Amino acid sequence: MCGIVGYVGEQQARDVVIEGLRRLEYRGYDSAGIALIGTADGVLSTDKRAGKLTNLEKAIEEHPLPPATTGIGHTRWATHGAPNDVNAHPHLGAHGRVAVVHNGIIENFARLRDELERAGHELLSETDTEITAHLLETEVESGHDLTTAMQRTCRRLEGAFTLVAIDAEDPSRVVAARRNSPLVVGIGEGENFIGSDVAAFIEHTREALELGQDQVVTITREGVAVTDFDGNEAEGRRYHVDWDLAAAEKGGFDWFMRKEIFEQPRAIADALLGRHDEDGQLQLDEVRISDGELRDIDKIIIVGCGTANYAGLVAKYAIEHWTRIPCEVELAHEFRYRDPILTRNTLVVAISQSGETADTLMAIRHAVTQRAKVLAICNTNGSTIPRESDAVIYTHAGPEIGVASTKGFLTQLIACYLLGLYLAQVRGNKYGDEIAALVRELAQMPDKVQAVLDQAETIYGLAERFQDARSVLFLGRHAGFPVALEGALKLKELAYIHAEGFAAGELKHGPIALIEEGLPVFCVVPPRGRDQLHDKMISAIQEVRARGALTIVLAEEDDPEVAPYADVLIGLPTVPTLLQPVVATVPLQLFACELATRMGHDVDQPRNLAKSVTVE
Ligand code: M6R
Repeated sequence: MCGIVGYVGEQQARDVVIEGLRRLEYRGYDSAGIALIGTADGVLSTDKRAGKLTNLEKAIEEHPLPPATTGIGHTRWATHGAPNDVNAHPHLGAHGRVAVVHNGIIENFARLRDELERAGHELLSETDTEITAHLLETEVESGHDLTTAMQRTCRRLEGAFTLVAIDAEDPSRVVAARRNSPLVVGIGEGENFIGSDVAAFIEHTREALELGQDQVVTITREGVAVTDFDGNEAEGRRYHVDWDLAAAEKGGFDWFMRKEIFEQPRAIADALLGRHDEDGQLQLDEVRISDGELRDIDKIIIVGCGTANYAGLVAKYAIEHWTRIPCEVELAHEFRYRDPILTRNTLVVAISQSGETADTLMAIRHAVTQRAKVLAICNTNGSTIPRESDAVIYTHAGPEIGVASTKGFLTQLIACYLLGLYLAQVRGNKYGDEIAALVRELAQMPDKVQAVLDQAETIYGLAERFQDARSVLFLGRHAGFPVALEGALKLKELAYIHAEGFAAGELKHGPIALIEEGLPVFCVVPPRGRDQLHDKMISAIQEVRARGALTIVLAEEDDPEVAPYADVLIGLPTVPTLLQPVVATVPLQLFACELATRMGHDVDQPRNLAKSVTVE
């Protein structure tokens, strides 16, 4: 939610900042802005525009900014105040000396605004950010350097924030601070960078520094210094980013989302890499919870939001079946408010692609206060959720830039399966050869997903056929139910049409009233191995078809029983029931991506959304 960039070095800061914003635009696209300290005159110049980054770029082309080697930039997902030019970041102090960009929400801003106004400050915007520019500027004007000013200001702020600031009278430094909001430093030679995530500077350096909570970082050409909010020296964790610029570009695809859908076989293979030995026994080195403690776990609660929550729903079926540990799945934002029963034998599993989702972060913090063990399933190295967890399974999907999660979801499923099997192995719920057999099935997933991708043209044809649909339903049972939910979510967020996923058994309890002539209904049929489920799903398909629905059936490719009831049949490779979501989700991703493209929507940046939701 909001992308922020900072740069100091020898290059033209304008180019570095704009390029960084382009790579962070998926985090918010309500407005974009830049502030630079002119090399020749030390004057602060800014430009900021409502709408996407291209508006800012056009403005800068028409009214070029002076050459500068120090600058900051911002791409906004609006919280306080409408997405217009005035509310766009950067914001300036009262005398235009300090410029600030911000991600997060400053909860005590009304009080601070009041105080500033009573002291004679005129605030121009409706944002919570502008007060920080005024506070910082007051501090530097009273003689503090920008680093000290930032420490002093942060001590007064409540809420979640990443702030990045420059002071026109000190072009040698860019200063940033973080609390509950993402911030990484890119370490270069003779130049250094700040970004909401490493995509901001990946074309310049793959060396990064992860900051801790309540820290202030100062970057200059020569180096990087970290302190806490009280000014005590502190340390960040340095790491090498294991993906490169190519991974952050579209590579010939029209959308990042489409590229990421097609990357899934590789992403799954990476998620599995090094996680088992030749005999199919699992090795999850990052799970630093002892075997004894894992054996004592008597309840699992999985928390996440959106797509991550649906990965958790699939995980519940697998983990309970393989381990016999009771497993609950809860939306992260609901979790702590119901006062959940947690003990030191509860394992809370937090699923988050970004590792920064505020709702999920708050959920694990609650779990930590209750002494539960917390394990993160996460895609983003250096992010907050894994850092605050006892253990982590990284999904290794590589950067996911399309706002709609695709490879993030499939690799979350893989990580959940690995976790379930690992627990079964440690606790002795399954024989070694049973685990090895399932690991062999997982190892075949990249090829099986590829086989589904090979049918992309057929699915695109479906999108053409249904491009005028105003409502689409998705039905599934058992592990196919979360697939239905995920299919519906993809369509809502990309095509902006009514889409709902139902457990097929629930149809007759109400939703069947929605069925009318010609309504497209996607039906996920479990593999034949699970006879009861399979047959019951076929009954549900017959029920909706009898009422005029057009059925698009996803079933095992050689399943002879479904064909008579399918208006369109999409063949899925044969897989065990619990693993079917991995292959069954892919046609739904392709359908949503293609339908939204045909409708003329921005697939990578759907309206009102942001990739990583860092506010509660
Ligand atoms: O980064 P996270 O996995 O924590 O994000 C959770 C949700 O915000 C995310 O999955 C969202 O639902 C996606 N836009 C779905 O495509």
